[in-house]
Amino acid sequence: MKVFSIKELANSYISDLKSKGLTVGLVPTMGALHEGHLSLIENAKKNNDVVVVSIFVNPTQFNNPEDLEKYPRTLDEDLEKLKNVNCDIVFTPNADEMYDKNEVAELFDFDGLDKEMEGKFRDNHFNGVGTVVKKLFNILKPNNAYFGEKDYQQLQIINKLVSITKQPVNIIGCAIDREDDGLARSSRNMRLTTEHRNSAAFIYKTITEAKEMINSSSPKEIEEWVNNQFKSHHNLVLEYFTIADESNLKSVTALDQNKKYRAFIAVFAGEIRLIDNIAL
Ligand code: PAJ
Repeated sequence: MKVFSIKELANSYISDLKSKGLTVGLVPTMGALHEGHLSLIENAKKNNDVVVVSIFVNPTQFNNPEDLEKYPRTLDEDLEKLKNVNCDIVFTPNADEMYDKNEVAELFDFDGLDKEMEGKFRDNHFNGVGTVVKKLFNILKPNNAYFGEKDYQQLQIINKLVSITKQPVNIIGCAIDREDDGLARSSRNMRLTTEHRNSAAFIYKTITEAKEMINSSSPKEIEEWVNNQFKSHHNLVLEYFTIADESNLKSVTALDQNKKYRAFIAVFAGEIRLIDNIAL
């Protein structure tokens, strides 16, 4: 496994492989790798000659400095995990390698996708994500790049980014990988107290039940039902639950048979903010 922290070196190594006709699959991550990340890598391995994983905790996508500071950094364990799954290349730059001094996030026109759900609670977050992913694509030149449906809004924004920047990369969305009790795997789960970790299974249980209501109740009725479920919960606090059109991420009040919808949720378990979603 080759490990690069300098962008020119990663770029020339990968350009050389591509000139030999090999295809490159990229899995961008912020590290603290778990099985959810590894499931993306498995997908990438199936369809590419070479798999690249980037590990970079991107400062421009954090609107809360404390969240950035507390983000788990476990590089040694991450590299061990990547070796075990036969990852070919790891790109792990530091912030100075990715950003000029005082550089801020580029502002993109994501056609309103960034204004819904997470965008309402995390100011400028998606401009930061777009900025770093655009840079990663330029440096690592992947044929295919893999993103989890866990962050469904992010996945749709990356699709939009590629249509704006016209970078020659296919974006592949991958299913949400879950713990045995249904909790979506996340780097944040390791920061939950035992009590909150046990409670957090309630999130998937509730959105699964909400999905079952879709043929008999309106989106508004389902939203009210979910709100009530959390009102009576002793240690989880609902930030939002909404049913939205998959393509434009706008909340809906009625369903059209020809469109696809998802339910999206954000919940605080103590100080830890967890998100999840489910196709309806
Ligand atoms: P990070 O949170 O590390 O996630 C990296 C990728 O793993 C994302 O595409 C995310 O959706 C996916 N992922 C995380 N948990 C998953 C799960 N349980 N099942 C399936 N996929 C899962 O998302 C980011 O990093 C950053 O915003 C990044 C795109 C790297 C830009 O900085």
